[in-house]
Amino acid sequence: MRTLVVGGAGYIGSHVVLALLDAGPFHVAVLDDFSTGHRINVPDMAELFEGDFRDRTFLHQVFRAFRPQAVIHLAALKAAGESMNIPVTYANHNLIGSLGLIHTCLEYGIEAFVFSSTAAVYGDPVYLPLDEDHPTKPINFYGYTKLAIEEHLSWYSQLSGLSYASLRYFNAAGYDASGRVQGLETDPRNLIPIVMETAAGLRPSLSVFGDDYPTPDGTCVRDYIHVTDLADAHVRALEAVAKHGSLICNLGTGSGFSVLEVLASARKVTSRPIPSVISARRPGDPPQLWASNDRATRLLGWKPQHSDLGTLLNTAWQVIRPQILEEQT
Ligand SMILES: NC(=O)c1ccc[n+]([C@@H]2O[C@H](COP(=O)([O-])OP(=O)(O)OC[C@H]3O[C@@H](n4cnc5c(N)ncnc54)[C@H](O)[C@@H]3O)[C@@H](O)[C@H]2O)c1
Repeated sequence: MRTLVVGGAGYIGSHVVLALLDAGPFHVAVLDDFSTGHRINVPDMAELFEGDFRDRTFLHQVFRAFRPQAVIHLAALKAAGESMNIPVTYANHNLIGSLGLIHTCLEYGIEAFVFSSTAAVYGDPVYLPLDEDHPTKPINFYGYTKLAIEEHLSWYSQLSGLSYASLRYFNAAGYDASGRVQGLETDPRNLIPIVMETAAGLRPSLSVFGDDYPTPDGTCVRDYIHVTDLADAHVRALEAVAKHGSLICNLGTGSGFSVLEVLASARKVTSRPIPSVISARRPGDPPQLWASNDRATRLLGWKPQHSDLGTLLNTAWQVIRPQILEEQT
């Protein structure tokens, strides 16, 4: 299947490209403008189209040249806090840009469209685990942009016959275990890369935002999913869409780790002290979040294989550590 990966040089996209190439029957092209992604993340086996996916003229050139049958869209602005300060930038990129891409897919009769969505579409949890029927009430503009695109996809599926998968990722972490992805995630905001940067001395200490939540150790609990598991789900989603039609699936592990659990394991994995300070709670942080992945198991035949805390932290440290140390010398 000829598959175009938009944002394929980024953190998750580069792992998706590897999973497609590893799986075999895929001819893969990457479309990326390298705004946060890295050229080094594009393997020789993949074709590369460098440019902005919001440029419709460029998109037409790519679609005519590569003739994709499937499109995976991972190119978004993704900082929830930032989206509240510059909503128009997020709307232009995540809403208007994504719609342009989807409309081009409709024009060219794409067989399957896979969309990177997020757990942020749910907002504050009403119950746990979060399943796909949980109310969707985003509490930041980023989550809203993802939900709005999901709603368009649902309409286009009914009205225009578009077959799509919307994959709601929880917290992505880790790196390819064989070190094939060398371009690091740009400006990471998630706990695990920040813990790693602290371990490597890039940050003086880790702020633990609140230790008085109603959780076993008082710190927030989140569902961390290994990026290789996420990538595997994309390959399965392409197959599942062809078989079952459009679908929406959570991609999480079904359980969570607290901030202090991550910190304690990271100290073991890195053999570094990793200084930490307890700070005030951040507004809008729910105490606990984790996914139900029953639907992904049923529709995709998917189960996380690499998302234990040791593998998440080890694979991250193996890739992040040498690069940070190199930068420091
Ligand atoms: N990282 C997470 O934990 C997480 C969680 C939930 C959802 N997501 C979603 O997953 C997707 C990928 O996230 P990521 O962490 O890999 O981010 P990333 O920033 O590493 O990757 C995005 C890629 O898209 C490219 N890109 C951005 N704007 C572009 C444009 N206008 N034209 C062409 N290419 C462009 C970037 O250069 C980069 O290679 C995003 O849609 C994000 O919202 C990520």
